Amino acid sequence: MARNKGLIAAQKAKKDEFYTQLADIENELRHYTGHFRGKVVYCNCDDPRVSNFFRYFSLNFARLGLKKLITTCYKNQQMDLFSRHDAEKAIYLEYDGTVNENGVPSVEEIGVHHLDGDGDFRSAECIALLQQADIVVTNPPFSLFREYMAQLMEYEKKFLIIGHQNAITYKEIFPLIKNKEVWLGYGFKGGATHLIAPNYEDYAVAGDHKEGMIRVSGVVWFTNLDHKKRHEELILYKRYSPEEYLKYDNYDAINVDKTKEIPYDYAGAMGVPITFLDKFNPDQFEIVSANDIRADTAVPYKAHGLIKDKDGAINGKPTYVRIVIRNKRRQP
Ligand SMILES: C[S@@+](CC[C@H](N)C(=O)[O-])C[C@H]1O[C@@H](n2cnc3c(N)ncnc32)[C@H](O)[C@@H]1O
Repeated sequence: MARNKGLIAAQKAKKDEFYTQLADIENELRHYTGHFRGKVVYCNCDDPRVSNFFRYFSLNFARLGLKKLITTCYKNQQMDLFSRHDAEKAIYLEYDGTVNENGVPSVEEIGVHHLDGDGDFRSAECIALLQQADIVVTNPPFSLFREYMAQLMEYEKKFLIIGHQNAITYKEIFPLIKNKEVWLGYGFKGGATHLIAPNYEDYAVAGDHKEGMIRVSGVVWFTNLDHKKRHEELILYKRYSPEEYLKYDNYDAINVDKTKEIPYDYAGAMGVPITFLDKFNPDQFEIVSANDIRADTAVPYKAHGLIKDKDGAINGKPTYVRIVIRNKRRQP
């Protein structure tokens, strides 16, 4: 039993050991340049010796006008086997932008400090560093995403982090999106990327295979930093017709299968796919809780506030998970 538990924990830890490519960080971060001037950036799931987040911010320190860069590295106590970093202890590093004749000094030259604990982002010493930070930027462990986000909220931090789109539907996450406390960033081309995965076999089809990497689909950036795309108008071209846009059995809303097919002339609630969030302009649409449009009180209350599972049926046939929205420009 104990051995089995250890194995499950090991598998989980292994799944967390993916590293982000520098190109993906550059592609996203170029849209937020103005947010970083005079700011303390914290990467709290990052070994500075291997993290491209550390690399990106140290190389662009002066250009972004940063005040300080802090990174902490988690030392998984049991799973050394899978970890890319093999130091004895968890470490942290603080960089103030000083350069030498070679440009950015090496990690050793900057100087690493040992943490007392294992560098868990929830530990008191990491929280003390978090409190110094203005913006947190990283790719945190997918398996701890709920707790990770809850901590950012608790300490009221600005952030730009990678996560899986499945997290959108978590009951802990979706209400934050609905309340405009969290939104999506620009994202990855085609909603997928390759993460550096030294311990993994990639089963991607030949054309998509990259040595030492794993293809991950459904990855997104979550943020509370404003950006331009979020204010772009979604151009709508379809007219509403009751034949084409059916109503849910249990919710007072029409179903829309594709974001681009949102009817421009419909004023009521509409269920749209979660990929809508990629086009979500809060000046154009508002997100509504599915609980507020239940056809009657017998329909169960859902903590996440989405149209989901068997209650989201149309003529008795279940649909995919849906976000409920209203067109703000069409409201009576
Ligand atoms: C998806 S990887 C990404 C690593 C790095 N941020 C990057 O993007 O290249 C998540 C990292 O979080 C670390 N980690 C796992 N549990 C952690 C915890 N409780 N606190 C801090 N880091 C943790 C893992 O060791 C792993 O290196």
